[in-house]
Amino acid sequence: MSVIFRTEGLSKYFDSLKAVDGVDFAVEEGTIHAIIGPNGAGKTTFFNMLTGNFAPTAGKIIFRDEDITGLPPHIITRKGIGRSFQISNIFGGLSVYENVRVAVQATYGDAPGILVRPKWLDEVDEKAQEIIERVGLTQFSRVQAATLSHGDEKRLEIGLVIAANPTLLLFDEPTAGMSLDESHQTMDMLQDLAKRHTIVLIEHDMDLVMSLSKQITVLQNGRKIAEGSPAEIRGNALVQQAYLGTAI
Ligand SMILES: Nc1ncnc2c1ncn2[C@@H]1O[C@H](COP(=O)(O)OP(=O)(O)OP(=O)(O)O)[C@@H](O)[C@H]1O
Ligand SMILES: [Mg+2]
Repeated sequence: MSVIFRTEGLSKYFDSLKAVDGVDFAVEEGTIHAIIGPNGAGKTTFFNMLTGNFAPTAGKIIFRDEDITGLPPHIITRKGIGRSFQISNIFGGLSVYENVRVAVQATYGDAPGILVRPKWLDEVDEKAQEIIERVGLTQFSRVQAATLSHGDEKRLEIGLVIAANPTLLLFDEPTAGMSLDESHQTMDMLQDLAKRHTIVLIEHDMDLVMSLSKQITVLQNGRKIAEGSPAEIRGNALVQQAYLGTAI
């Protein structure tokens, strides 16, 4: 197994607050790697640096042996790192199919954009349908996106991300606000996505983290306090202390 993505001493300070502090992190290709930690541990800030939304205060980000530290978000997306967007990226007035189609079209053509040469139209259509199937929305294909349930909206959001063909997928709390049923469906979908993409997942749902992840990295107060397999993390005293009072 090879490391596809890593950080070295990655740090982000907000004035005197060390939100992320010297984190070394490595993800093996083709695995699901979870990042956990109490509220305010620095997980989302860490992601924001990986996607180019925050410039690191110090450290390096290496993707497929290339130093991508400090590159802007649109370049990082084009290099193959996808992040689940906020709901606002969905066009509520368009159908599920139209939303995915626009996202697929954006990856076609000589220059990125939504105009596409006629010869590619069938291919775009096929790819859009395939993505809709992969995120389990085929039956809602013609439905207006604004009318989807919260769980289905999240699925569509993920569909829009995978439309860009990312190698590495970053998910920040994909099951937040979901019912138990929806969470289980999302878990199945993540497992399915992991067949084609490497996944880094921030998640508070420990059952989900423990059953899906190959490796888990634990952050607390911006620092990495533990790393290992689910079994190792469960038995780690530092982690249990960090989560005092929470079942893990
Ligand atoms: N843009 C910002 N400016 C100043 N401080 C920030 C900013 N973003 C995050 N922080 C602070 O950095 C710390 C880490 O926040 P972050 O959102 O990364 O935590 P988190 O681990 O994602 O927490 P949660 O589990 O609640 O989502 C917090 O103390 C937060 O208040
Ligand atoms: Mg967060």
